[in-house]
Amino acid sequence: MTFLVTGATGKAGRHVVDRLLAEGQRVRALTRHPGKVIFPAQVEVVRGDLTDPDSLRDALRGVVGVHLLTTGGDDYATLTTGPELVALFAEADVRRVALLWNGQVGPVEEAFAAGPVEWTRLEPTDFMSNTLQWLPQIEKGRVEEVFGDVRVAVVHEGDVGAVAARVLIDGGHARRSYTITGPVGLTARDRLAVIGNALGRRLEFAELSEEQARERWRAAGHSEELVEVLAAWQRTPHPATSVVSDLLGREPVPFEQWVRERF
Ligand SMILES: NC(=O)c1ccc[n+]([C@@H]2O[C@H](COP(=O)([O-])OP(=O)(O)OC[C@H]3O[C@@H](n4cnc5c(N)ncnc54)[C@H](OP(=O)(O)O)[C@@H]3O)[C@@H](O)[C@H]2O)c1
Repeated sequence: MTFLVTGATGKAGRHVVDRLLAEGQRVRALTRHPGKVIFPAQVEVVRGDLTDPDSLRDALRGVVGVHLLTTGGDDYATLTTGPELVALFAEADVRRVALLWNGQVGPVEEAFAAGPVEWTRLEPTDFMSNTLQWLPQIEKGRVEEVFGDVRVAVVHEGDVGAVAARVLIDGGHARRSYTITGPVGLTARDRLAVIGNALGRRLEFAELSEEQARERWRAAGHSEELVEVLAAWQRTPHPATSVVSDLLGREPVPFEQWVRERF
């Protein structure tokens, strides 16, 4: 079977590609910059932009399932092309789609909910790889972060990729939403302590106020829409669920293992 993976060059998407390949499936990887990306030789790299649905026509030919982002552009803007995407997918006879949400149900999810294509919503918590944003601060021994005591069961991107591949290959998950998490809720302070232990260094945690965090996100060039999404998302605890073990038959990868892989 052939699957189209959008966001294939991203943190989770590249794992969707790997898992589909590992299960012997044919993979088409969508990117806006085909000349710049490197995939295993058996992956067919195709150019396309989700904000311009017509650019996906060729990429969809013969495709059974799609891993679909719900944002587009470098600032994670919510995609507004849901109705066009649903029409294109239906025309191309795509059987099922895994929708990777953006922290809230938006226009793409709503369009698929009203359309004929079988959909499953993937609702991961924060990816463990987001922690890499701390790297420059870790080098200096002090990390400044907002909402330091909010517990989030951060998830390994490989687990998101594995769940997406299961849903796309097996089917049988129509109209379901899956909150994909790591094994246990951890605060930002906890995560920094795990990294400090792995590095054998004392790393200081400094709590930012919400207003300071908002100012930093704006200074980084984020839109007001994204600043609101980030603030609402990060102040909310996200406890662990059993989705990974239910769907994959094994426990989710713990943060300690992710740290061993990356540090
Ligand atoms: N990071 C998290 O903690 C987290 C948690 C839950 C959900 N999510 C969602 O997961 C998605 C991916 O996030 P990420 O952290 O993996 O991002 P990322 O690593 O920065 O990757 C972004 C991906 O989006 C693709 N992309 C961007 N605009 C596009 C467009 N207009 N058309 C086609 N592809 C486009 C990029 O492809 P090219 O540059 O190759 O074209 C790239 O593969 C986002 O929708 C995000 O909201 C992230």
